[in-house]
Amino acid sequence: MTFDVNRVRACYPALADGYAYLDGAAGTQLPAAVIDAIGTAYRAGLGNAGGTFPASARASQATDDCRRAVADLVGGHPAGVILGPNMTTLTYRLAAALAATWNPGDEVIVSRLDHDANVRPWIQAAERAGAAIRWAEVDPATGELPAAQYADLLSERVRLVAVTAASNVIGTRPDVPAITAMARAAGALSYVDGVHATPHGPVDIWALGADFYATSAYKWCGPHVGAVIADPALLGTLRPDKLVPSPDDVPERFELGTPPFADLAGVAAAVDHLAGLDDAVTGSRRDRVLASMAAAERYEQRLFDTLRDGLAALPQVTLYGKAVARTATAYFTVAGYAPKRVAEHLASRRVNVWHGHNYAWELTGVLGIRDTGCAVRAGLVHYNDESDVSSLLAAVAELA
Ligand SMILES: Cc1ncc(COP(=O)(O)O)c(C=O)c1O
Repeated sequence: MTFDVNRVRACYPALADGYAYLDGAAGTQLPAAVIDAIGTAYRAGLGNAGGTFPASARASQATDDCRRAVADLVGGHPAGVILGPNMTTLTYRLAAALAATWNPGDEVIVSRLDHDANVRPWIQAAERAGAAIRWAEVDPATGELPAAQYADLLSERVRLVAVTAASNVIGTRPDVPAITAMARAAGALSYVDGVHATPHGPVDIWALGADFYATSAYKWCGPHVGAVIADPALLGTLRPDKLVPSPDDVPERFELGTPPFADLAGVAAAVDHLAGLDDAVTGSRRDRVLASMAAAERYEQRLFDTLRDGLAALPQVTLYGKAVARTATAYFTVAGYAPKRVAEHLASRRVNVWHGHNYAWELTGVLGIRDTGCAVRAGLVHYNDESDVSSLLAAVAELA
């Protein structure tokens, strides 16, 4: 097992600017291989898909390759990979298609741990269908989303459980397999938001028990493309709104308009890059993705210990969330300073972080900080190193 962070960092041209990129949870940098793949696709000549000439065939090939790559990343079937602009747009689309099968009296379970993109689309779709919403609650002291509560929330009336695989601010990883197993036993489908979780470790949607799994390539070093992965047979049962002449096959039925073909080539290159994070592993791309993401996760978690312990040692700092299983994502405040002021100070020290609610709307309400400018988020991904963490800690210590 070899994870060489210096080798990995050298793949990312943007990291040469000397900033500590701790803003990965809002969007990661791109390795040169991904940037090149996008440029190469354009340079080769790209037509629209479905035509008779080679440039058109290249567009179709980029789409097929992208579906295969996403399936290798998360463990799904390429024919079940829906591509779209981002997770939010795709989730609204899936919510509309699923809600068309709901009736008054049905119920949908959402959680207060989730990014609003896996909350509001379901609430709005449920309202239109006359279905009721039930809430899974977060323990504010720990940041855990206890799985046991789903036993009380679930009944034969529940049609869907929407839950995140990881919080985008406090990093909590709920026990998704337990939640989806309970949902399935009650006859409900599950929609798992994997946008924050996917870059932080190996993903297997079958092991998670997710009927739908959503992810966004720009969080894992790819371009701005979203994907929802599901069993093609399940997708075949849904009838989303679409144009009459557009393909009615699965998954194309769920994809509106013309996709960004060159970006799709970039998504496949991003998966190839992730598969090579540990350059000692061999086997199929899926095997290499699993091993590489496991190596990256171990590396990130070790670095996170330093980051978290360093912040915790600063008396003026309050850290939110201490779930047992979590991604390497810190969410904190510094007494006497508004989060935006902290982020501005860090930017002046060449440290990129986010401040605010980061769309964790319900969670910041639970934590009692939504009206206070919320907190500062510093997150690690595989290309961060000890110097990034030291820069953050030194800059925060100047305030604390
Ligand atoms: C956990 C989580 N879910 C959903 C989203 C929304 O993703 P997208 O920007 O692809 O719509 C984000 C974006 O930050 C996120 O972190």
